[in-house]
Amino acid sequence: PAKPIQIKVVLLGDAAVGKSSLVLRFVNDEFQENKEPTIGAAFLTQKVRLDDTVLKLDLWDTAGQERFHSLAPMYYRNAQAAVVVYDITRAQSLDRAKSWIKELQRQAKPNIVIALVGNKLDLVADQENEEAEDADADADADADADADTDAEHTTATEGKERQVQTSTARAYAEESGLLFLETSAKTGEGVVETFTEIAKKLDLN
Ligand code: GTP
Ligand code: MG
Repeated sequence: PAKPIQIKVVLLGDAAVGKSSLVLRFVNDEFQENKEPTIGAAFLTQKVRLDDTVLKLDLWDTAGQERFHSLAPMYYRNAQAAVVVYDITRAQSLDRAKSWIKELQRQAKPNIVIALVGNKLDLVADQENEEAEDADADADADADADADTDAEHTTATEGKERQVQTSTARAYAEESGLLFLETSAKTGEGVVETFTEIAKKLDLN
């Protein structure tokens, strides 16, 4: 069999959005509720098969804490692909993702494949997405009243709400030429798909 093609992939995004958790799910099919922050960066590899081709992904999982920002160029330089992660329950993390994407578009390889990934989908699994906004005002008022009542009975970890609508992030990704997926490192939803979509979009010649 032919030697696998080696591909350098960098993960970028705000602290605690779930970069390391996505990698851990993809590589080991595991999840940890209290994953410690990454210091500097971590390196793991995983293979993906595309028809008759095997790609070996070299995954550079960077640290999202601001004090590590200056290290990032070492990891995205020469990368053929980037996974830029935000947390769908934290709007500010999408702003951070957008600024990483601008930095990549200025400083990384010109043909780099970028995937924008909205993680922690499991936290909003039973919540409505954008279509809910079409509901009439009375229904909204009733829903708000219910939500207020419910809030008194939920704990801090349960009280997460979606702050980034799928349609908003997808529109941004489309106009910027990025792949777009929503994922859960906790359930595994969308995780393998993220790396397979990247592999498909790479120009391997
Ligand atoms: P830095 O290394 O500091 O940049 O953070 P990170 O982006 O690598 O985040 P990490 O994977 O360490 O996850 C942060 C926290 O979010 C951990 O407590 C994870 O268990 C949790 N987490 C990550 N992904 C998910 C997810 O999909 N769903 C839920 N519910 N929690 C998640
Ligand atoms: Mg990490």
